[in-house]
Amino acid sequence: MTTLRSRQAAGDTDWWRSAVVYQIYPRSFADDNGDGVGDINGIRSRLPHLARLGVDAIWINPWYPSPMKDAGYDVSDYRAIEPVFGTMAEAEALMAEAHALGIRVILDIVPNHTSDQHPWFQAALAAGPGSPERARYIFRDGRGPGGDLPPNDWRSEFGGPAWSRVTEADGRPGQWYLRLFAPEQPDVNWDHPDVHAEFEESLRFWFDRGVDGFRIDVAHGLVKDAGLADVAGLEFPLPDDTPEGVEHPHWDQPGVHDIFRRWRAVADAYDGPRVFCGEIWVGRDHRLTAYLRPDELHTAFNFNFLMAPWLASPLRETITSTLAAHAAVGAPATWVLGNHDVCRPVSRYARPQDRVREGFPSLQGYLGLPADLDAGRRRARAAALLSLALPGGAYVFAGEELGLPEVEDIPLEARQDPMVAGTGGANIGRDGCRVPLPWTTDGSSFGFGPDGGAAPWLPQPPDWGRWSTAAQEGDPASFLELYRRALSVRGGHPALGDGALAWVDAGPDVLAFTREPGFGCWVNLGTDPVPLPAGRVLVASGPLADGALPADTAAWLALD
Ligand code: GLC
Repeated sequence: MTTLRSRQAAGDTDWWRSAVVYQIYPRSFADDNGDGVGDINGIRSRLPHLARLGVDAIWINPWYPSPMKDAGYDVSDYRAIEPVFGTMAEAEALMAEAHALGIRVILDIVPNHTSDQHPWFQAALAAGPGSPERARYIFRDGRGPGGDLPPNDWRSEFGGPAWSRVTEADGRPGQWYLRLFAPEQPDVNWDHPDVHAEFEESLRFWFDRGVDGFRIDVAHGLVKDAGLADVAGLEFPLPDDTPEGVEHPHWDQPGVHDIFRRWRAVADAYDGPRVFCGEIWVGRDHRLTAYLRPDELHTAFNFNFLMAPWLASPLRETITSTLAAHAAVGAPATWVLGNHDVCRPVSRYARPQDRVREGFPSLQGYLGLPADLDAGRRRARAAALLSLALPGGAYVFAGEELGLPEVEDIPLEARQDPMVAGTGGANIGRDGCRVPLPWTTDGSSFGFGPDGGAAPWLPQPPDWGRWSTAAQEGDPASFLELYRRALSVRGGHPALGDGALAWVDAGPDVLAFTREPGFGCWVNLGTDPVPLPAGRVLVASGPLADGALPADTAAWLALD
């Protein structure tokens, strides 16, 4: 009950500054109707589990009508519910039930691109070059003789050129359209007033239905260089020493901030805070926190923390620079260990941490490196306590509370991520963290769907049931009980959530800090046990060794 108390104590206006947000990938969470794909009623049936876990909010990945070329990130109608997931009435019921349990609901808005099946894009194809319909997207003539070459050198995140060519009404190869992701995800033109109006209207549509906020997909990508200048080899994220004024032509363009100022005004017109969290991959802290100025977004995912190796010095540096940059704009930091795009933390931390490659942290970056999953588990448990003790909010991707590993051996033909097709199989993509959750130790889909229902949309490993909620329930050594205990302590402790920390020097391999009143977090990233200060252990990520903190272990302490 402590978590409920603290939710109320956190106050209605500032809840987002310290919220623990649980990410639900609806396809993979719980399948109520047995068609092999998770759904809204599945989420509803598990809300009591989430309330018991002690989270403050849920973020639901896109649930709008979609041809599912990128698992819902190709939206064909922003103001309706995808029939595979359910109905609007079920969505409204979910929101009411979540709110009744004290859980806020955050949706996912996808403003960089629509589906190619969106009525706007279909109209643009039909209307032809130079038409007002095409002006809502980014259509250009090709380069070279016959316009056979893409208009510039931009590359898709999913492999190959970022442009696709259309066939015009007369049957001839025609213009090209920009799509930074899959060919079925045309980028919209944010210089167009219709685009602003459409998305602002969609925000209002859901706010009017009681939604508490939005995660903003690819928030740093909306504005493109007016001349569509070539990237010309410029790496992104731009290096730390990039001179001011040097900008990438399609990521983090300065003009993007005006869009979010307008969105903030839309949100602020509602009673009770409606909040935004940006998906912003920009590297440099000051460029991230520029999005968090008081009249822009409330929060952003802290991917620098997610990408930091499990080594004391880079982690400490990341935490320190994160906190300093956020303090400068008065925004709370967030602490993120995983999501539906990256390798699960257990499997990431299982790799030799001095050899993990920088960059986009999907499984592809870890292939070929040996994995010690026991070490990965110990570290992921310690990382959970670290992230939940740091000042600000935290995100928990469904399955993290179970310590699920990345499923690395999904056969190529069973993989669904468009990244696989886009790269001709060279990148195995992100399916390994999206495998449907195990709820029970046995059953045809380990409780993801009804027994005997259709096979889950991604295959589950045969031993998946050992990580299930049912297998962990009541086992004090389990991941699930660690998360429950940590969230319960966090919810009731006045030192946790938003605020400040003070580092304690406990040696080069230890991250140790205190928070007032009377709280300490000690994390041992070295190889030998280290002493703990005097105090009562509130929760530890593993057994202590005669009162000392073993390697890859974290402890929360009530300090005298
Ligand atoms: C974001 C989403 C990812 C999606 C991409 C394109 O990065 O998190 O899953 O593929 O945007 O919408």
